[in-house]
Amino acid sequence: MTEPRHALPPRLHVDDAVHALELEQIFRRDWLCVGRASDIARPGDYLTITIAGYSIMVVRQPNDAVIAMSRVCRHRGALLGHADGGTTSLFVCPYHHWTYTLDGQLRGAPAMGGNPSFDPKTCVLLRYRAEIWEGFVFIAIDPERPALAPRLQAVSERAAAYGLAHLRTAFAIEERWNVNWKIAVENASESYHHLGVHSATVQPAYPASGVQCEDGGEGYNLHIVPRAPSAAGSDGEPAPLNPRLDEAQRTQLIIVGIYPSLVLVFAGDVVTSLAFVPERADSTVVRVHWLAPPAYFESADFEERLASDRLLIASILEEGRACCLSVQQGLSSPDAVAGPLSPLERPVAQFGRYLRHCLGAPILK
Ligand code: FES
Repeated sequence: MTEPRHALPPRLHVDDAVHALELEQIFRRDWLCVGRASDIARPGDYLTITIAGYSIMVVRQPNDAVIAMSRVCRHRGALLGHADGGTTSLFVCPYHHWTYTLDGQLRGAPAMGGNPSFDPKTCVLLRYRAEIWEGFVFIAIDPERPALAPRLQAVSERAAAYGLAHLRTAFAIEERWNVNWKIAVENASESYHHLGVHSATVQPAYPASGVQCEDGGEGYNLHIVPRAPSAAGSDGEPAPLNPRLDEAQRTQLIIVGIYPSLVLVFAGDVVTSLAFVPERADSTVVRVHWLAPPAYFESADFEERLASDRLLIASILEEGRACCLSVQQGLSSPDAVAGPLSPLERPVAQFGRYLRHCLGAPILK
């Protein structure tokens, strides 16, 4: 399938019917990132995601496995666990105190003995598929979805030197943007916009003119942004935290858009992940993780480094949010058109190809 040369039709970013179709055809079918496995390292740790009408949690088990299951109580439907995740030994429903084990078995249900049709074995929390890829926990609502790792094999090979699976969360940020999820994904997936939106923050070190787009694959797009020679520090490079990286890997950005809605930014020793969770046609939860190797946490200047990295990400996010809001407003206008794409925006075209595959080509006309 060829790559489109124009942006998506504007109505795809504002139409509730399109949003409903995307939930059905993409988010109830494809693999979705929930978070980092290392953030639920101990038995009973759990993360949650609310997506396409489903409320799901991924839970670390006593045998170290990670499972995904519904948060919906099998009594009268109240949600189990906290929306922000947490740690527990049992899931106790707040409504009538039905109690579930970490793997979703019903352990207790007060005053149900007088109902002869009550069978605890039929009141087990529903399960979904979970897969850990390079340290990220993914879930799939569709039980037939093929495994995730094979379609990202090339990304795994590319990321091997970075030790992605072993990076830990230094800090995480969660925001709600009043934009369509595709606007946010497209923004994070291309670096053409460095020269505009990020002209003061990113462009000096990683100019848009250097963008090198690759072919990508069925499940991802990928491009590289080399660092400008003038951006090298005058008093030498800081000691690398990850000695496995070569000169190019230490200095360039590699940006990978993993379909449908996870973007990874490899920046030398650290990786930033941005997961976009659609809520409505014009509302998206943005989950950002700053991932670093063990040496980052052990460095003598850890606190300063952490504060500086937080500040950098906050600035970039603020710039990104503002421009995405502007695009959302513009695409809501009757004047909006599906404009032509620069070759530097090839990831946007490749994302469009994925959408066409999922939704059917006619909707992109
Ligand atoms: S809804 Fe959960 S115990 Fe009643």
